Amino acid sequence: MGLQGKAALVTGAAQGIGAAIAARLAQDGAAVAVIDINAEKAEEVAAALRSGGARAMSAAIDVTDRENVAEGMGSVAAELGPPHILVNNAGVYRSTPLLDDSSESWDLSMDVMLKGVVVMAQEAAPHMIRAGWGRIINLGSMMSSVAYGDDLAYCTAKSGVLGLTRSLAAELAKHNVCVNAICPGSILTTMLEQVGQAVEKRDGLETGSWLQKRAGEIPLGRLGLPEDIGSAVSFFCSEDSSYITGQSLHVNGGIYQS
Ligand SMILES: NC(=O)c1ccc[n+]([C@@H]2O[C@H](COP(=O)([O-])OP(=O)(O)OC[C@H]3O[C@@H](n4cnc5c(N)ncnc54)[C@H](O)[C@@H]3O)[C@@H](O)[C@H]2O)c1
Repeated sequence: MGLQGKAALVTGAAQGIGAAIAARLAQDGAAVAVIDINAEKAEEVAAALRSGGARAMSAAIDVTDRENVAEGMGSVAAELGPPHILVNNAGVYRSTPLLDDSSESWDLSMDVMLKGVVVMAQEAAPHMIRAGWGRIINLGSMMSSVAYGDDLAYCTAKSGVLGLTRSLAAELAKHNVCVNAICPGSILTTMLEQVGQAVEKRDGLETGSWLQKRAGEIPLGRLGLPEDIGSAVSFFCSEDSSYITGQSLHVNGGIYQS
């Protein structure tokens, strides 16, 4: 319960990795705001946390909408107290081959995974600076460092997340706000399943074969679980990581070594 008395915001927390991060931070004692564009599912996650004894609320916030974020942050701070922890987890994956007209997917990817991170940090950081303690954790990806093709927008945005993390870390260190990135490998969520289905359709593969192949390639012998990322976030929020900032941690079962 090391995070008792702290308020944590987790974006994209209505499902998948974000929901597991929210659950882990609640287990660690934090009051948690489950933030997502999907209001209904975000409330389901928050209600489950409350029924487990945690302090939790949902907030329907689109991280790309500055006014919406500012307003939402106000209501979260009023209900849970000023945020000490921000986990920028909201993400989208869109296939973006270079020669296709994918400008809409490109804009969406940059908006959610770069602009969204900055806007959330701009609204949350003043609270952390006032408190003299804060943690910002940004979700990168293995694709912050490697590429498979057809993933121009995702790779670019997730590589940008690492630069953004370093820059925020350098700027906020004097306020005792640590900023780090976590780069998941293949984590079993809706997003990964959708990527698998798209590749199978494109390459005429059998249903489910892509995920099975992927799991077989991972040195630790399994796909990742959302809870594996929750554990890494918990570490970055704990006092055990208080001398670590500006870093990225790959959590991928050993398939890529940085
Ligand atoms: N699953 C993986 O294998 C994997 C690997 C590497 C990185 N990641 C990253 O981890 C994060 C979570 O991934 P996931 O697999 O749980 O994805 P997911 O698609 O299951 O969940 C993403 C969540 O983000 C929300 N979201 C999207 N746009 C939003 C916006 N504008 N404002 C607020 N919320 C928004 C969605 O509604 C959804 O609930 C993402 O940043 C993703 O890129 C995932």
